[in-house]
Amino acid sequence: MTEETGAAIKLTIEDGVAVITVDNPPVNAISQAVRQGLVDAMKTVAADGAIKAAVVRGAGNVFIAGADVREFGKPPMEPFLPDVVAAIEATDKPVCAAIHGVALGGGFEVALGCHFRVMSPKARVGFPEVNLGIIPGAGGTQRLPRLCGVEKAADLVTSGRQVAAREAKDAGLIDAIADSEEDLLAAAKQLALSKVGRPLRRISELSVAPPAAADFFTTEKAKVTRAARGQHSPVRALEAVEAAAALPFAEGMKRERAIFQELRSSDQAKALRHAFFAERAVSKVPGLENAKPRKLGKLAVIGGGTMGAGIAVACLRAGYPVTVIEADEAALERGRSNVDKNLEGFVARGRLTAEGKTETMGRLGLSLDYGALGDADLVIEAVFEDMGVKKTVFGKLDAAMKPGAVLATNTSYLDIDEIAAATKRPEDVIGLHFFSPAFVMRLLEIVRPAKTSDDIIATGFELAKKLGKVGVLSGVCDGFIGNRILAKTRKQADYMIEDGALPWDVDKAMEAFGMPMGPFRVMDLAGLDIAWAQRKRTAATRDPKERYVAIADRLCEQGWFGQKTGRGWYVYENGKPSPNADVEKIILEESAKKGIARRAVSAEEIQNRILYAMINEGARIVEEKIAARPLDVDMVKIFGYGFPRWRGGPMCTADIIGLPKVLDGIKALAASDPLFWKPSVLLEKLVAEGKSFADLNN
Ligand code: 3HC
Ligand code: NAI
Repeated sequence: MTEETGAAIKLTIEDGVAVITVDNPPVNAISQAVRQGLVDAMKTVAADGAIKAAVVRGAGNVFIAGADVREFGKPPMEPFLPDVVAAIEATDKPVCAAIHGVALGGGFEVALGCHFRVMSPKARVGFPEVNLGIIPGAGGTQRLPRLCGVEKAADLVTSGRQVAAREAKDAGLIDAIADSEEDLLAAAKQLALSKVGRPLRRISELSVAPPAAADFFTTEKAKVTRAARGQHSPVRALEAVEAAAALPFAEGMKRERAIFQELRSSDQAKALRHAFFAERAVSKVPGLENAKPRKLGKLAVIGGGTMGAGIAVACLRAGYPVTVIEADEAALERGRSNVDKNLEGFVARGRLTAEGKTETMGRLGLSLDYGALGDADLVIEAVFEDMGVKKTVFGKLDAAMKPGAVLATNTSYLDIDEIAAATKRPEDVIGLHFFSPAFVMRLLEIVRPAKTSDDIIATGFELAKKLGKVGVLSGVCDGFIGNRILAKTRKQADYMIEDGALPWDVDKAMEAFGMPMGPFRVMDLAGLDIAWAQRKRTAATRDPKERYVAIADRLCEQGWFGQKTGRGWYVYENGKPSPNADVEKIILEESAKKGIARRAVSAEEIQNRILYAMINEGARIVEEKIAARPLDVDMVKIFGYGFPRWRGGPMCTADIIGLPKVLDGIKALAASDPLFWKPSVLLEKLVAEGKSFADLNN
């Protein structure tokens, strides 16, 4: 018998067991209809004498992925999830959750409302709420410590990490693991039936064991606060677990609900929801809906230096065979050794076995001969950043690659239209701009030259997905989306140290903003020599009206290139940075040379000048259609440059601050530097129309 208790929930009675199926594609998110359907189903279970027990399961690929995030910005609608979970738990007949795919957030809370839980071997459970700026809001923080202790509960709710079936079983989160996904329903039914007539264990009725260490919550709070770098939700999740240890269940539930509701309407939650949906929207580029990716079987990389080797590792790790071409034997050997070293790093971190490494190295081909590229479907060029060298390489690629192959360049700044013109097939040329280290950084800028066909762009997105990266489409311009914005923020950082700040003041302010590293520490890490060479190359064409800060040049003239020379903005001893006192002297001299009366630059001014520089340039990038939407700019900054996700990216931050306030701030800065702070036309237009960047994302 099948009973429809609402479109989203189906109830079938099989062998005396009510099989309640949540069916709300694509991920069975708990919408109002799902909540209502579950309440109705539990009423049926209670009332129908033919039903002895019940199983809750999900249709499709997952059990339940959690609350419907799309409902979060709207007024809450009854029934509320805590009441739904309570209704399941209160049922007098045994209820078992049959978990496949994932049970996340509210989905896991529904499972914890059930009296028993069975998982399929490959399923995962977890509370990712903190990643959305909230905490579990339907008893997760109260039931979890009752099952697995406060230490484990604190770990799971503050990290948001997902737990596989084995770990869940060992921690007492579930009762059994089914032999296979096919056996899951039968196993859950059997478990539920075996408990008919027996006393039922309701998690809310269990007590919470105190933590083993008396100061657990104090030390944990310090640890979580540090790791969260300004994000509130992890610390608040810990607070809710602490409430579970200190208060009776009903009181703890009230505390959890209060924190959940407070956070749900916070700016951080808004920003993190934006990041969640933007991450999924970024590959859905308007106008490219019908473009089909080309086949990606074999890949090749030209150049085995820092980037080439890193890109090869990223591709090998994704399972592709990869051929690396170098200029001479010595460089080829260096390339092989770079790849080997990087893979060894994965082994050392326990993310690859020794046999796995051997297998991976087995897929690496090495050659000096472009003839080895005949069967490659896509090649990524990562040779020196020099137009002449790149053009020669693309001429050779044009001759060697089969028709239909994708010819990509990893150039950081060069004009890809010009590179494409060195071939007879500019429609097959694209930019694939990776970030260092290429096997770690998630961003891939997919750069579209004028003549490139849509299916090549689609292939770029397909490769990004296969490599586990976030692909963002960019038009051709100097530095594309990311480095173009970076150039502006670097200038502001330079101006500020000439105005009165010191590099470590700037770094401290930006780290307090939420960046993992301040701009000067990043420069020391990447090496000051590369930008120096670029400045020397472009010196002749520099706008004489533009303010030029020579401090970095003075450092480079001393041979201080950053970490690699042990000295840059900072001095490195045993890898630890401390401010370079000689740098301070240079800065004071340079300010004096220009007659600048140095003044105190507050942390707020530092943060505003760097943020507003990002926003203004980001707006220009959207205005010029280099980025399709503001969300593309946000994703570049979050995944490529460490912009705090909980701020949603610079464009989202601008919306949260309010565009009129941002524009006023830019105009105020323009009073002393009109050349740099010319407001973007788009920003002015949006303010005039009372709109936000978010309006352009839809
Ligand atoms: N609410 C609304 N929509 C959701 C959703 C959710 N919780 N989870 C996923 N979706 C949507 C996605 O936006 C996407 O939509 P689109 O096709 O229009 O872009 C679609 O479902 C498919 O999602 P993915 O592209 O992410 O599919 P994957 O197969 O790669 O991943 C997943 C599936 C692992 C379930 C992943 O989507 C995921 O991690 N989802 C979020 C889980 C989560 O954060 N849950 C907690 C919610 S908050 C909560 O439960 C509060 C509670 O405590 C009260
Ligand atoms: P690198 O100097 O470490 O490596 C370049 C390699 O190319 C060398 O091993 C060299 O032997 C090889 N090479 C030179 N000419 C060649 C040819 N004709 N055929 C085959 N191989 C040749 O440089 P890096 O840092 O790896 O940069 C490579 C490219 O990646 C540049 O275009 C750079 O702008 C870009 N890039 C660099 C990033 C970085 O952080 N280093 C980030 C993103 C892009």
